[in-house]
Amino acid sequence: LPQAIYGERRANSQGVDLHVAHHLRAFIEARDEFATHQWQAGPLINGSLQFNPENAHSIHSPYDRALEVGLVSSTSTQQLNEALQIASEAYPNWSKQDTASRAGCLKKAAELMQENFAELIALCQREAGKTLQDSIDEIREAIDFCNYYAMQAQLRLGSSNVFTDYTNQSCANAYKGRGVFACISPWNFPVAIFTGQIVAALVSGNTVVAKPAPQTTLIAVRTVEILHQAGIPTNVLHLVTGEGEIGQALVSAAQIAGVAFTGSTQTARAINRALAQREQLPVPLIAETGGQNAMIVDSSALPEQVIKDVLRSAFVSAGQRCSALRVLCVQDDVADLFIKQLAGAMAELKIGNPLEANVDVGPVIDETAQKQLLAYQSKLHNEAQTIFELEAPKDSRGIFVAPSAYEISSLNQLEKEQFGPILHVIRYPANGLETLIEQINQLGYGLTLGIHSRIEHRFKNIALNAQVGNCYVNRDQVGATVGSQPFGGRGLSGTGPKAGGPHYLYRFSQNITVSDTQ
Ligand code: SER
Repeated sequence: LPQAIYGERRANSQGVDLHVAHHLRAFIEARDEFATHQWQAGPLINGSLQFNPENAHSIHSPYDRALEVGLVSSTSTQQLNEALQIASEAYPNWSKQDTASRAGCLKKAAELMQENFAELIALCQREAGKTLQDSIDEIREAIDFCNYYAMQAQLRLGSSNVFTDYTNQSCANAYKGRGVFACISPWNFPVAIFTGQIVAALVSGNTVVAKPAPQTTLIAVRTVEILHQAGIPTNVLHLVTGEGEIGQALVSAAQIAGVAFTGSTQTARAINRALAQREQLPVPLIAETGGQNAMIVDSSALPEQVIKDVLRSAFVSAGQRCSALRVLCVQDDVADLFIKQLAGAMAELKIGNPLEANVDVGPVIDETAQKQLLAYQSKLHNEAQTIFELEAPKDSRGIFVAPSAYEISSLNQLEKEQFGPILHVIRYPANGLETLIEQINQLGYGLTLGIHSRIEHRFKNIALNAQVGNCYVNRDQVGATVGSQPFGGRGLSGTGPKAGGPHYLYRFSQNITVSDTQ
């Protein structure tokens, strides 16, 4: 099982075709060994899991609210301060370690994630409600981040780069960490983004206090245990559990030298304000936030390909990706055909228990998300034209929002990002492409853009004028590949630098120029 999905070199981990019966069976059997396992989580400070049954609450699976997956205890302010203190004290030694030895821990972590693949996919499915394919992709991405940042650290941060000399001195550039990094991660990629932030900070020479999203704490604790097992010293990496208050206390702490955050634009703003209010000078905030992502389809596009890519972009992971397609813009002369095909294809989607291999769309993460998405759908019933609404499973103990699509008449109707399987469709006139691009840019976000066109100068021109971080032509617009498609946006979508790209580690580093007359 493990070798089937893991390349030998820094090459990304290899995919698996789950349509091949024996692959599918192998993954299901491996996962099902953890079918009744109960996990425990709590603050993980200096390598000790501080689980306290008296303040623990249960985590229930999003696809079956009666199914308990494990217990999580909360973190007190005192425990947070202890984590910050130990991480601060550990920084000088860790930052002086050889980059190659820190990179070695990341490579080992990648191997251990591979060894623990079955448990990690079981957790992704049971705690986060992901489909099997999404869970496999998630762990593969975490592995890829480990290997990629290990390589990048050695390539870029390891030895000093000597500058061209105009001074008759020897002048070189060296890198070291900044101090204690706060890594605050979301529930939608509870292993990949969680791991990516942490290992980038660690390999650059920082120590870390991580706060995962409360919905996916169990898998986060298991991931930190794996990182410790891979050789990351226990005093260098700590985890705190809890809701927004603990995150707020973390980013306001005097010891923090930088923050890596992925989540909502609103929370990124709050973190920015908290950092600005500290007595110390501001520290870097690396924020990856939301999107109001469009796909532009012109009359030269291939309908079957477009529909396949729209379904994946809008509804994979139940639309709970910041990269997901939110508004499909179709040239008006072909719009009727595309809308008809879209409705027909959506009717074939299967929504339900993600443990079943033929399910395309699983649950949303929790009741709060469900309530907000259902309210938004009701609003669209009045304000838009319904194209198609799939039926959510009946008599289910899961939290479902059925994929739906609505035709709107103006992009002004879009409000804030709706983080679920809701697609807007809009028509644009053949001579209105420039205006459309301007209107998309004016939405203020800038994460992904899909383009379907067979006219090369047109798609190149759109890509040039669209203010987004990731542009995808004649394909779907989710699932950026580590190292090939560095991921991240601009405007309301984030600060950069892009995750999984060559500039990411620099933001976690301090840069020192050493000049020597010898
Ligand atoms: N990196 C993910 C994607 O590309 C989103 O976070 O879908």
